[in-house]
Amino acid sequence: MARIGFIGTGEIAGHMVRGLAGRGHEIRVSERSRAVSTALAAEFPEVSVAENAAVVAQSDVVFLCLMARIVPDILPGLPWRADHAVISVMTDVTLDELCRLCAPARDIALTIPLAPISGGGCPLPVYPESPALEAVFGDRNPILPVRSEASLSAHFAVAGTLAPILLLMAEVSAWLARETGDATAADAYVASLFGGFLRPDGAPEQFQRLLTSLSTEGGLNATLRARFEDAGVPDLLRTGMDSLRPRLGLPPAAPG
Ligand SMILES: NC(=O)c1ccc[n+]([C@@H]2O[C@H](COP(=O)([O-])OP(=O)(O)OC[C@H]3O[C@@H](n4cnc5c(N)ncnc54)[C@H](OP(=O)(O)O)[C@@H]3O)[C@@H](O)[C@H]2O)c1
Repeated sequence: MARIGFIGTGEIAGHMVRGLAGRGHEIRVSERSRAVSTALAAEFPEVSVAENAAVVAQSDVVFLCLMARIVPDILPGLPWRADHAVISVMTDVTLDELCRLCAPARDIALTIPLAPISGGGCPLPVYPESPALEAVFGDRNPILPVRSEASLSAHFAVAGTLAPILLLMAEVSAWLARETGDATAADAYVASLFGGFLRPDGAPEQFQRLLTSLSTEGGLNATLRARFEDAGVPDLLRTGMDSLRPRLGLPPAAPG
């Protein structure tokens, strides 16, 4: 079992701690956000709250869950060791920057957890490979090593499509609730309906095949899909993701 620390105890760290609790680890979280850190320590006996420096000094694996803008002020002053495993979940902070800010630590990796990590089953793309990530989260979450930092950044862009796609699903559910008068049942129906289609089937072009299966000429799906395409919705999503390229350090989109 591991000694695990969190620097930055906000939204995502809270989900990660919940995903680790009850599994024999010793977990230290930094004080801020105080409301989150005190709630976690009250709920889980293995979680304690400490100063940033004590979190680092008393942990073997340290997750960095800060906003990028404050990272240069916080990380260099902490007692990093060569034997630390450091795992950043932060957008907008590169591996090179982290190697500089967390020296002499060298086992440094980037990954992308999301809220479902609290219950397991959250895909965790990672670069470079991280034995520590595998050891602490790999039993309940698929760890997906990617080939380069740019590939990891591209996964960040895809994680950024959750909100626009959930916005559409919220609209669908609200429409159903207005018709039926039951918002809870509407959410449950929409979540199960889409969930049934979203289990990875391991074969190529899953989404294109699903679209083909929903393309009956004149059918409800084909009718609504044509409206989306005529309105340029797929183009809007693709160009929106492309607009994130400079921020994520990705090259311009290939023509065509
Ligand atoms: N939220 C997600 O689903 C998600 C998913 C993947 C990656 N991420 C990445 O994870 C990082 C954190 O995101 P978040 O959504 O968890 O944001 P957040 O809730 O704002 O968490 C950031 C935390 O850092 C704390 N903090 C500020 N100054 C600090 C200091 N000097 N020492 C220690 N902690 C300090 C903040 O505390 P105060 O509230 O007291 O200022 C806050 O709790 C970001 O880089 C984000 O890109 C987030």
